[in-house]
Amino acid sequence: MNDLHVLVIGPRRGLVDELRERRIPFSLWQQRAFFNVAVGEKSVVAPLWSSPEKIREQIRKSFAGKKFSHVIAGTESAVLPAAVARRQLGARLSSAATGTRCRDKLLMKQFLAGFGILMTRFLAESEANDAQQVFATLGVPVVRKQRKSSGGRGLQLLYTPAELMQGKTGHCLLERFIDAPELSVESFIDRGRIRFASITDYHRKGHCNFVPAVLEPELEKTLLALNERVISALGISWGMTHLEVYLTERGPLFGEIALRPPGGYIMNAITHAWDFNPWAAFLAMELGEPFAFPARPVGYAASEVLHPGAGRVRSIRGKTQVLDEQGIREFRLKLKQGDTVAPRAALGQDTGYIVHVSATPAQRLALHQRIGQQLVIDLEPVDA
Ligand SMILES: Nc1ncnc2c1ncn2[C@@H]1O[C@H](COP(=O)(O)OP(=O)(O)OP(=O)(O)O)[C@@H](O)[C@H]1O
Ligand SMILES: [Mg+2]
Repeated sequence: MNDLHVLVIGPRRGLVDELRERRIPFSLWQQRAFFNVAVGEKSVVAPLWSSPEKIREQIRKSFAGKKFSHVIAGTESAVLPAAVARRQLGARLSSAATGTRCRDKLLMKQFLAGFGILMTRFLAESEANDAQQVFATLGVPVVRKQRKSSGGRGLQLLYTPAELMQGKTGHCLLERFIDAPELSVESFIDRGRIRFASITDYHRKGHCNFVPAVLEPELEKTLLALNERVISALGISWGMTHLEVYLTERGPLFGEIALRPPGGYIMNAITHAWDFNPWAAFLAMELGEPFAFPARPVGYAASEVLHPGAGRVRSIRGKTQVLDEQGIREFRLKLKQGDTVAPRAALGQDTGYIVHVSATPAQRLALHQRIGQQLVIDLEPVDA
């Protein structure tokens, strides 16, 4: 225990709090100076490079001669730097190939397709030279996304060959559009075994997540089995994963898996639905420690991610009404009258959030609907 020294790349609040709480010495590598550090802690502010060479150079520059027992990635762009840093700094080793596959959507899909995991049709943009052929293969619209991204950044729907040719970089992934509800499976993995999994229903994509999802037992089993096959195929032996699935009429389709905790305040919803601290559990998995997970949820939680769209805030109504609701556990609104809100470029951009918990799924749904009616953020256009 005395030899613990953790490097956190792409830190997240709950994880930093947990490290401090446990008095585990740590250093941070953050993209922007978001977390202040206390005495004895160190923070390096530097880009999270995507080329292994640049990553190695940064580590030499910033952490040379330092000893770390563990390196933890908190965000998507930290996954590859963490895999590289573990090698370079002599920390607990993860598979570099797994890190690359989890970071690059094209490599991930090519690899998992080889294991018979069902997913929507896709093409590498670099190999898609004939636009007509692409539409013939993938249908309309074609989804174009960056191979390495998160939060839906840079995701486009393309309807014509002209659009497809326009903005072509060759570094993207092209996919058939799926019109279906989405779910995610959050897993805590230790020594190659999934110790705990929780299913999240993207009740309203980007806006409202239900934890746990309420599913037919048969479907739940199918999803957990898919989750297990993906994790085992990728050889993920420890940490936390966030797997996304589309529920089509013909059955579940794998979307992608991330080797990091989820966003969208799903961690907060897990806390209230299952009554444990998922950040403490995440840290335990990373450190190879046991953790006592609950067998059953204590309630039906939801995270409401608040973003009113672009404009200037004319008025905010209903805040007290919402706060008076019994089920509210967390409420944060970062907006006030007169504030200007920029368009939402990625799902990680929000203007606040609410986490609530109810005794039954029906009550959760009703509370979600009441919040939607009560909390009104009135916007006016911003003059150009
Ligand atoms: N082929 C598709 N068909 C329909 N919707 C899609 C498709 N690909 C992506 N989407 C939608 O866009 C969202 C973001 O896509 P994706 O998960 O691939 O990118 P991301 O940048 O990793 O986003 P996030 O970090 O939010 O998971 C998906 O959760 C889904 O709602
Ligand atoms: Mg995704």
